[in-house]
Amino acid sequence: MTAKVFVTRKIPDAGLELLAREVGGFDMNKEDRTLGKSELIDLVRGREAVLCLLNDAVDADVIAAADNCRVIANYAVGYDNIDVAAATGRGIAVTNTPGVLTDATADLAWALLMSAARSIVPGDRFTRSGGFSGWAPMLFLGADVAGRTLGIVGAGRIGTAVAMRSAGFGMRVLYTSRSVNEKMEVKLGARRVDLDTLLRESDFVSLHVPLTPQTRHLLGRREFGLMKKTAVLVNTSRGPVIKEAALVEALRAGELFAAGLDVYEDEPSLCPGLAELDNAVLMPHVGSGTVATRSKMAEMAAANIVAVLKGRKPANCVNPAVL
Ligand code: DGY
Repeated sequence: MTAKVFVTRKIPDAGLELLAREVGGFDMNKEDRTLGKSELIDLVRGREAVLCLLNDAVDADVIAAADNCRVIANYAVGYDNIDVAAATGRGIAVTNTPGVLTDATADLAWALLMSAARSIVPGDRFTRSGGFSGWAPMLFLGADVAGRTLGIVGAGRIGTAVAMRSAGFGMRVLYTSRSVNEKMEVKLGARRVDLDTLLRESDFVSLHVPLTPQTRHLLGRREFGLMKKTAVLVNTSRGPVIKEAALVEALRAGELFAAGLDVYEDEPSLCPGLAELDNAVLMPHVGSGTVATRSKMAEMAAANIVAVLKGRKPANCVNPAVL
């Protein structure tokens, strides 16, 4: 018998156990891989709920096939992979997992920032491979972090958490945001500026905007040209916010000092040339990837499904008009 709920790929047990307990079970893609569009279309038919991942393209065709669906629960805070307008048009609630992954993602942004500033990855490779023949005055000279300027592009939950961590480094903080971030201004003396000013004045720029038509390619050749040659760019938001080919050019030409990336424009592919750059630290989209965080995300996504199927309001609905 077909279960009411379909899970597109194995997630931590906390979420699966909740579904088993509260809604009588689920079907799940048994293979540890992303489903193709036609597979997704076949598998969502007749389901009342779909628990999907940020790399499942839940477009208008998939949503049209989900003819009995009441809720699409994304296992992520970002939901640019879902055609929310199409879901809303069919009265389907779309939910996400905000809050629980804020700290894990902010921690990774800092790990990338520090790694890029101090050449941790090439330094490790060099040391392991026997290149280290003794202390040397000019070996792997990096960028100072303490006392420098941190630019936060998008001061929502994660951007704020990244900024708050800078207090220990005594940094000056600039940010862009649609509204004033009181916490950052009061606690850090952060200053809200326009994007060009932030790019010109920051030593470290960290991106925390959702992917929307307005933020796609927010940073490209022109913007890299505004940044300091000594600047470090960190991206843990969504890959297409950066024009990756322009970033490769800027890093190669020394127009930027380094970059730390967790996300890519055409994930999982990398732009040609990126993997060859020693001044780029590359992680495989694991911002929320800690054991505890992924477990909380699984529970949250499952709880959103349970709520809708039991006729309650889900805690994290991004299109509340349908409720
Ligand atoms: C999200 O939840 O949007 C993150 O990118 C997951 O790592």
